[in-house]
Amino acid sequence: MRQARITGVGHAVPERVVTNDDLAKLMDTSDEWITERSGVKERHHVSNDEETGASDLGVQAAEIAMEMAGVSPRDIDLIVFATISSDYFLPGSAVMVQEKMGMRHVGAFDVRAACSGFVYGLSIADQFIRTGMHDNILLVGAEIQSVALKFTTEHRNLAVLFGDGAGAVILQPSHDDSGVLSTHLHSEGSHLKDLWLPAPGSKYRPFNSKELIDKDLHVPHMNGREVFKNAVIRFPEVIQEALDYNGLTLNDVALIIPHQANYRISQAVAKRLGVGMDKMYSNIHKYGNTTAASIPIAMSEAYAEGKISPGDIVILAAFGSGFTWASAAIRW
Ligand code: COA
Repeated sequence: MRQARITGVGHAVPERVVTNDDLAKLMDTSDEWITERSGVKERHHVSNDEETGASDLGVQAAEIAMEMAGVSPRDIDLIVFATISSDYFLPGSAVMVQEKMGMRHVGAFDVRAACSGFVYGLSIADQFIRTGMHDNILLVGAEIQSVALKFTTEHRNLAVLFGDGAGAVILQPSHDDSGVLSTHLHSEGSHLKDLWLPAPGSKYRPFNSKELIDKDLHVPHMNGREVFKNAVIRFPEVIQEALDYNGLTLNDVALIIPHQANYRISQAVAKRLGVGMDKMYSNIHKYGNTTAASIPIAMSEAYAEGKISPGDIVILAAFGSGFTWASAAIRW
């Protein structure tokens, strides 16, 4: 049976670097607190004087991924764009990639599964390749979250964690046993208010009320403890699910690329699984949590650093708002 193989990967982040000390000038926090609780040392944010949207970063990442795969924009036959920070409320960012890159009039849509968005998108792309419907899929994970954050002491638990960035992959049919072996997707909507951004949305009327702004409904909110508690259960669970489904053990795995939520979460997950941190890729110290972009950015860097070689088993695992969680097993 056909399965999807990642033939190109790339990433892009805005130039502006914001350190923990920079944030400490805006709110009551410190480099020590942020480093100890999250592992984040710095993140990239778009500049306030430029109009960069999620699609712009996505295009930069896509250009690198396409060059590696040896495909041109005209070859792409489906665009899947994972984001919770699309350029506009309507339409999604995928169509902007189609237009900016001069692609054919192919299918293009966004996936809004938050931090699990990239793995959800990978699962969708894999199905299209397995059925034979598409052969050259561009999957992007891109976020510009800094513009929605409030850099105040009241919102500091969230403001210090998140960053902007994009990663992209090209998926094509595999001609051997390499490729996406499995994907597993999950959700538990009862936790939606533990990490959410209430407005604008169809629930809040009038849509542009002053109350909406006054109550900070347009700013993300997080119950950090609840997120942490669930993440350290769901990550190992969904990684184990991927292993069991494929008859693999952790000894077979070269690298786990978890969504970069928080270094402490990754440490707790590694401990529960009984693996060393050398098997758990981390670059959160440089980028913070970039939501749907974090896994493809990490994959791009891990590949560039020579940490993934042909034949390696790589496990992707994600957890985030919803709650949603997901994993993918890949033979590189
Ligand atoms: N700087 C300094 N102090 C901060 C702070 C910051 N950036 N953010 C919160 N605090 C304070 C709180 O106000 C609180 O102060 P208080 O005791 O005076 O009320 C104290 O630190 C403890 O807050 P709490 O929220 O209980 O801290 P915590 O130990 O749970 O750590 C997180 C906070 C956000 C780092 C932690 O809950 C976490 O990592 N959660 C998971 C978040 C995550 O991964 N989200 C993305 C998922 S995709």
